[in-house]
Amino acid sequence: MTAVSGAAAGAPSRFPFPLPDGWFQVAYGDELAPGELRGLHYFDRELLLYRGESGRAHLLDAHCPHLGAHLGVGGRVVGDRIRCPFHAWEFEGSGACARVPYAKKVPPKARLRAWPLVERNGILYAHFDKQGRPPTWEPPAVPEYESEDWTDYWRRDWVVASCAQEMAENSVDPAHFKYVHRTADLPAARARSEGHVFHVDMGYPIQMGGELQQGRIEIDCYGFGLGVSRYRGIVDTTVVVSGTPVDGDHLHHRLAFLVRKLDSPEATRGLGQAFVDEISRQFDEDRPIWERKVHWERPALCDGDGPIGALRRWGRQFY
Ligand code: FES
Ligand SMILES: [Fe+2]
Repeated sequence: MTAVSGAAAGAPSRFPFPLPDGWFQVAYGDELAPGELRGLHYFDRELLLYRGESGRAHLLDAHCPHLGAHLGVGGRVVGDRIRCPFHAWEFEGSGACARVPYAKKVPPKARLRAWPLVERNGILYAHFDKQGRPPTWEPPAVPEYESEDWTDYWRRDWVVASCAQEMAENSVDPAHFKYVHRTADLPAARARSEGHVFHVDMGYPIQMGGELQQGRIEIDCYGFGLGVSRYRGIVDTTVVVSGTPVDGDHLHHRLAFLVRKLDSPEATRGLGQAFVDEISRQFDEDRPIWERKVHWERPALCDGDGPIGALRRWGRQFY
């Protein structure tokens, strides 16, 4: 994983809210073959992701309940279990200890916390809930991912010294497109929310190959961790957006671009690349602002600002 810089671990957070609950990407499915494991640091904790020989992936807390070894450092996948490197205790994907090789009885307390995990759209999504409640909704399937008419993912990722709420607010902030990204007009954003989904729809002028292209973008946010953003214009792209908290002040941001195939593979590649480059350029323009700004609970908004208030009201359910 990308190195994290910025606030020291354990320092008070810059932001006046805890980590949001919801589904968050922890890996792409193809980053983990059967029998493989990796240690991760998300949600301000150490985690262990592994895929059993049968193909099913699991996410557990990383530290063994016996004497605290990190299962990601020398641990091994054995069938569908994970074996601790220290004294070879074996755990199921449910977190239950299945075997202590030198004891007659497994201590009932020997259990790891297991996090709900689903694999969809080629992505491993974990459910984080501060109170340990089970999920009440699921990450959406993205039909373009399965379709022959669309390319495979073009992936980009960054670790940003910011948080999911701030990144979400940026997408309903039409004025910054003009002043940060130098688009010609202020796109007007319309928003509505339904349960855990927040929907934004706006005009989206985009600079590609030196020319300004008009287009529209529709963004569906599924909690603060996941979004699907559909741009329709000179090239149709669907971007699977994910923001996973590393800790309160750092976010692992991933964009997976799908491009609707054009007549020739060269045209698809050329326009797709131009779109990916443009969004990546915008990201680099936003980044220094995100990394040093503060979050005002009562900002001085004006009538030309986007639906930031609506987004904040919707977002309260995840805290
Ligand atoms: S610390 Fe894991 S088996 Fe002892
Ligand atoms: Fe931006």
